[in-house]
Amino acid sequence: MKTIFSGIQPSGSVTLGNYIGAMKQFVDLQHDYNCYFCIVDQHSITVPQDRLELRKNIRSLAALYLAVGIDPTKSTLFIQSEVPAHAQAGWMLQCVAYIGELERMTQFKDKSQGKDAVVAGLLTYPPLMAGDILLYNTNLVPVGEDQKQHIELTRDIAERFNKKYNDIFTIPEPRIPQDGARVMSLSEPTKKMSKSDPNKKSYITLLDDPKQIEKKIKSAVTDSDGIVEYDKENKPGIANLLSIYSVLGNKSIDELVSLYEGKGYGEFKTDLAEVVITTLTPIQEKYYSIIESEELDTILDEGADKARKVASKMVKKMENAMGLGRK
Ligand code: TYM
Repeated sequence: MKTIFSGIQPSGSVTLGNYIGAMKQFVDLQHDYNCYFCIVDQHSITVPQDRLELRKNIRSLAALYLAVGIDPTKSTLFIQSEVPAHAQAGWMLQCVAYIGELERMTQFKDKSQGKDAVVAGLLTYPPLMAGDILLYNTNLVPVGEDQKQHIELTRDIAERFNKKYNDIFTIPEPRIPQDGARVMSLSEPTKKMSKSDPNKKSYITLLDDPKQIEKKIKSAVTDSDGIVEYDKENKPGIANLLSIYSVLGNKSIDELVSLYEGKGYGEFKTDLAEVVITTLTPIQEKYYSIIESEELDTILDEGADKARKVASKMVKKMENAMGLGRK
C-alpha cells in the first residue's frame, strides 16, 4: 500500500478552503492508502501565537479531523510536536536546503513582507515540512494549490540528500484536487480564502453556525450583471461560489449554470448557503460530541506512538547517512 502524509496548521479556525482543498480528499484517500495526518503545531509558531489559544486550536483541529471523517483505525492522526523526529529531521534538512531557495518561496515572501523582524523559523519552514513528509516514505501529499511550491522544494531537497549522502528517501508527489484546489476569499475573490485574513467575512469556518454561513454567503462579493456563469477572469466572485457549490453539492459547474439560468444571485446564494449548511451540520455534531472526550486523547496518544516508531527509524537512517553520533 502506498503512503500519504499531509498536515494542517492549528493556527486559527479551519476554513472551508482547508476542507475543500485538503480534508475532503483525506477522507476519500484513507481507504486506499496508508495515511498519516498531522497537526503541524511546530509550523504554527513561525508566526506569533497566544499559547492558550494555540493549545485550544490544536485540540480543536484534532477533533475536526475526526469530525470530517478521518477514521483512526485506518489513518494515523497525531500532533507534530509529540513526535521529536520531526524537529530532528527538520534540522538535518536545514543543512541540505539553500537559503536562496528558501527565500524564493512565495509563502515566505508574503509572510515576511513589510516586517522589520522576521524569525528564522519562517525562512526554514520548508525543511521542517520536508522532514514531515520524508520521514514516512511518503508517496503522495494531498494539498491545496498554495502548497505545491513547498512540495516541489521537498522533492529537490530529498533528491539532493539522496545524491549527496545516501539514497534513503522516497520522492513524494503532490496531489492537488481537480476542483476546489484554491478556494477564494468571499470578500476579495481574487485572493485565497485564508484563516489568517483579518476580515472574518472573507471565510467560512467549519464551526460557523447556519446564520453566520447564510450571512457570509449573502454578503459575498459578486458583480452587477446578475448572470450565474463561470468566468474566473471577469466574474471571480461567482466563479468561486460556483466551484464551492459544485464540490459540496456534487453537481458539475455546467449543471449549475443551466439550473440558475435566468435566476438571480439571490436564489443562487440561498441555495448555496443551504448546501454549505447541510455539509457542515453533521461535521459540527460529531465535533461537539468528541471535543471534550477522553477518546480524543487516546486517539492522539496512539497516533503519536505509531508515528514515533516509523519516524525514529528514518531519523536513524538520516543520522547514519550524515555521520552523526555513534554507530
Ligand atoms: P495550511 O495549514 O495553510 O492549510 C492546510 C491545507 O489546506 C489547504 N488550503 C486550501 N485549499 C484550497 N483553498 C484554500 N483557500 C486553501 N487554504 C488552505 C492547503 O493547501 C493545505 O493543504 N504548510 C502547510 C502545512 C504542512 C504540510 C506539511 C502539508 C506542514 N507540513 C506536510 C502537507 C505535508 C500549510 O501551511 O497548510
